[in-house]
Amino acid sequence: MKLQNKTVLLTGASGGIGRTVAKTLARQGAHLLLVGRRTDSLNTLLEELPGQHRAITADISSDEGRQLIATHCQESGGINLLINLAGTLDFSFFEYQSDATIEQIITTNLLSPMLLTRRLIPLLKTREEAAIINVGSTFGSIGHPGFASYCASKFGLRGFSEALCRELADTPIKVFYLAPRATDTSLNSTAVNDLNQALGNKTDSPQRVADALVELVTSNRQQHYMGWPEKLFVRINALFPGIVHSALVKKIPVIRKYTEHQLETK
Ligand SMILES: NC(=O)c1ccc[n+]([C@@H]2O[C@H](COP(=O)([O-])OP(=O)(O)OC[C@H]3O[C@@H](n4cnc5c(N)ncnc54)[C@H](OP(=O)(O)O)[C@@H]3O)[C@@H](O)[C@H]2O)c1
Repeated sequence: MKLQNKTVLLTGASGGIGRTVAKTLARQGAHLLLVGRRTDSLNTLLEELPGQHRAITADISSDEGRQLIATHCQESGGINLLINLAGTLDFSFFEYQSDATIEQIITTNLLSPMLLTRRLIPLLKTREEAAIINVGSTFGSIGHPGFASYCASKFGLRGFSEALCRELADTPIKVFYLAPRATDTSLNSTAVNDLNQALGNKTDSPQRVADALVELVTSNRQQHYMGWPEKLFVRINALFPGIVHSALVKKIPVIRKYTEHQLETK
């Protein structure tokens, strides 16, 4: 899909990756509907973008928020592209995570994108060219200690994307799945950044993710896993999970150290 003059709904627009995606899509001539819960940061973003765009202050985890988004999409004459980017993360060992935090992670990262997508499919179907991009994570393919709830949400999003892609194959709607690795945004706490450093995990810039997203939507591929060696580990984990299991289990003491540190500094 070429992005010039296409109408794009972007959730997570006020976040580290979202702001950069918005700027990249605006430069390509797309018309953006920017979703976030913070009106001030959406308005600041609007001022920085070339072209005419709209901000929608809405919580995707509420029915009211999703209805508001759908109404804006209809008023804008429909959308060509839905980008499910909004997300949340909490780095801690599962037994110490509260029920509320677990619910929030699954709701924000999995259930809300599903419900928003279902609501918008009829609108997308009316366009000659339409697509949905779900932004997952390397942790949507590799179960990692310290991230059990986040992994569950992103594994779910990946499964949803694959099934929906096949289900909509005889419609105009394409479904893409993008899996970034660690990216330099405030989603990652100091503890996560310190852990990544200790484990030697590389971190991408938000611009790299935005470029990968644009490349994916203009390609014929269905999915893209970012980063080397992360994409290799994803494949090894799928074929020989025991190898990745052993490697990660050896890292538990380091991972535990950083989660404990995070608890101490909370
Ligand atoms: N950063 C990474 O290392 C990394 C790696 C792989 C994948 N990802 C994925 O990339 C996506 C974007 O991450 P990021 O790094 O840009 O995170 P971020 O900077 O923390 O931004 C998160 C965005 O999600 C929005 N959001 C969260 N809950 C929401 C809700 N209930 N309703 C509406 N909007 C909500 C936030 O908006 P407001 O707070 O303004 O409402 C914000 O715009 C996420 O799905 C994340 O899982 C990130």
